[in-house]
Amino acid sequence: MSRRDLVLLTDHSSTEGTREAMAVAARRLTGREPVQLDARHFMTGSAACTGRIEAVGDGTVRLEAEGRVVTTDAVVVYEIPPHWRPAFAHCQRLLRASGVRSLGTDVEAWRTATEKDRTVERFTRDGVPHMPTITLSRPTPEAAAEAFARLGGDVWARPCVGMGGNDVFHVTDHAQLAAAARHYADLGQDWLIARDARNFTADGRRHQYRVVVLDGRAVRAVEHVQPDPDAPCNECQGASSTTLEIDELPPGIAELAILATKSLGLPLAGVDLAAESGGVVFEVNVHPAFGRTLGVDQIAAPYVAAHLHS
Ligand SMILES: Nc1ncnc2c1ncn2[C@@H]1O[C@H](COP(=O)(O)OP(=O)(O)OP(=O)(O)O)[C@@H](O)[C@H]1O
Ligand SMILES: [Mg+2]
Repeated sequence: MSRRDLVLLTDHSSTEGTREAMAVAARRLTGREPVQLDARHFMTGSAACTGRIEAVGDGTVRLEAEGRVVTTDAVVVYEIPPHWRPAFAHCQRLLRASGVRSLGTDVEAWRTATEKDRTVERFTRDGVPHMPTITLSRPTPEAAAEAFARLGGDVWARPCVGMGGNDVFHVTDHAQLAAAARHYADLGQDWLIARDARNFTADGRRHQYRVVVLDGRAVRAVEHVQPDPDAPCNECQGASSTTLEIDELPPGIAELAILATKSLGLPLAGVDLAAESGGVVFEVNVHPAFGRTLGVDQIAAPYVAAHLHS
């Protein structure tokens, strides 16, 4: 294969669908089929870790997996689920050391975004507005109750590493707090509690924004509205979603998303944030999911293009 083959490295067990959008963008931009490799072959500690990766000089790498061998100067990395990122770090380091074109090789930036306790620490350092948050690690009931009281008794609990709004709870009394504590202890997970952002519409529904930032610019904006005030305002948890023009966002929201992305050092990110409480960031997603229609034009095509020689 020629060194101009573009490699698309994603977790093929993921069902999010962004891999296909990236492939569409790659075909459109290069006129060729990208070489799609399963990132699980390059994850240390996984049974499927049979891939090989080797720098061959001059900004190129040789990747070998499932009997396929490709030498390339551009590797698009996407759709690596949060829990698998530590196992993928070794591959990222090899890619970075090889000098291959890739926007997915910054282990530290991924870790800071993926581990939400680290995200909050970074935001505090850089002055990125967020709700007051306390990290808990198998707390005693007294320690959990004390943190809960300190934040005002109306908080959201979430695991330090998670996705899809799973294992996220609105906690407003001590029974819910104890249930959340048991839940995270059973999962063996550290967790965070943060003061409720009061992100309500005039008619009492939750709402928030997802802004995707690429290369310091907001490229996509979506508003989520959740009728259940106790459920995460997240499409997977039943929120509706409306695509907005960037200039339809409330004042300062695009700038806040850009600030959060820059603070974490990510080239691309999907930032979840609310305009209430002065404008606050909930979290930053390393590989935001997006739809095929607008998502290819807004995200996948410019992301893939950034990997190609101009
Ligand atoms: N302090 C808060 N106030 C109000 N809502 C909150 C707060 N913290 C979290 N939430 C809600 O819980 C949701 C899930 O939290 P978070 O985004 O950290 O989890 P996730 O599992 O990574 O979700 P995603 O699928 O969006 O990446 C937030 O998007 C928001 O709707
Ligand atoms: Mg997330």
